[in-house]
Amino acid sequence: MGIWVVNGFTVNALDERVKRHFFIEDGKIAKVLEADGAAPDTAGHTVIDAAGKLVAPGFIDMHVHLREPGFEHKETIATGTRSAARGGFTTVACMPNTRPVIDTPETVRYILDKAAEAGGVRVLPYGSITKNELGRELTDFAALKEAGVVGFTDDGVGVQSAQMMKDAMALAHSMDMPIIAHCEDNTLVEGAPVTDGAFARKHGLKGIPNESEAIHVGRDALLAEATGVHYHVCHVSTEMSVRLIRLAKQNGVRITAEVCPHHLLLSDEDIPGLDANWKMNPPLRTPRDVQAVIEGLEDGTIDIIVTDHAPHSEEEKEKGMMLAPFGILGFETAFPLLYSKFVATGKWTLGFLVERMTAKPAQVFGLPYGTLEVGSAADLTVVDLDTPREVLKEEIVSKSKNTPFIGWQLQGWPVATIASGNIVWS
Ligand code: DOR
Ligand code: ZN
Ligand code: ZN
Repeated sequence: MGIWVVNGFTVNALDERVKRHFFIEDGKIAKVLEADGAAPDTAGHTVIDAAGKLVAPGFIDMHVHLREPGFEHKETIATGTRSAARGGFTTVACMPNTRPVIDTPETVRYILDKAAEAGGVRVLPYGSITKNELGRELTDFAALKEAGVVGFTDDGVGVQSAQMMKDAMALAHSMDMPIIAHCEDNTLVEGAPVTDGAFARKHGLKGIPNESEAIHVGRDALLAEATGVHYHVCHVSTEMSVRLIRLAKQNGVRITAEVCPHHLLLSDEDIPGLDANWKMNPPLRTPRDVQAVIEGLEDGTIDIIVTDHAPHSEEEKEKGMMLAPFGILGFETAFPLLYSKFVATGKWTLGFLVERMTAKPAQVFGLPYGTLEVGSAADLTVVDLDTPREVLKEEIVSKSKNTPFIGWQLQGWPVATIASGNIVWS
């Protein structure tokens, strides 16, 4: 038995829309029919009626925290992938700051086994650059690659030593693997919970300066130029970083970058008070930085959108702005937020947004997903672009609830998600 997804419309990067029927069988897209001809014979198959709705390739999120192993009170691979499915994501790449850190083939295999058990959303693990993410000794890149990692990163912390980063890049380049970097110079941070800006001044808090991110971006762009590696910048949040990435691209450096919905939508001036659901790393920056990352995404300096889905328990987040851990949820609100605030308002085309969450990430990381071509993996997301719904805490399927977007009225909600031919959300 197969699945028919009928009467929906697709959109390409040029924003051209075509009404199409899709037939899914054995985990693959088996047929694509232009929907102006005769109705297909769907007898004996599951039918999803997508009339009036967008049918997009399943969204790809190259930066997520699934917390397993080690922090199952925040999220598990089962709950995290279900949260991803609700958000329309069919492929997610998980960060190695688990316990143990993803620094051995055994932990990679543990994650892949758990993901297979959870059955549905594809999980691509990253391996850490350094053992236990301590910045002291490189992991066994060859063994991690063999076990199935899609890149190397110490996300959660920056690699402080330039020599360590250069060695990592040279090694990754020799095996045709990317380095993905959380850019943060610790000597410029020292326990600040928010950005150096209006909010910090008003509340008498220390601020995280923009240079703490941009210094690593600049350093690593030079090291990427020297080593030839594909270097990918995590969660770009500052105007300085955008400027440096733009310059590096102009100079032919193999550099790519990502941005999160919250850094496109919120500045430190939007933080309502000392509520740690507004605390993440990098922090919400100034309105000028928000404008710069939007422009960076629009002109291609920043390639893709990711969520940095970072669940933390309510207990942990109740410790307050100073003590609570950094991070907010991402999966379930990403597309509705960006659709409502950028597409429905006429700033971006739908095709632009969908491409940045599907074909582009696939292209940047060389993945065979993010496409609706016949023969490709059956990863499809059906989205109701019209019906407004409030973000309700009770409806969040992640194990954690740490998001500043509760109560927001949004449209663009995924209503059915199919991953590798399995209906994982409807
Ligand atoms: O906000 C963040 N949360 N930034 C990070 O770098 C780590 C992440 C986490 O693991 O919670
Ligand atoms: Zn990070
Ligand atoms: Zn992260």
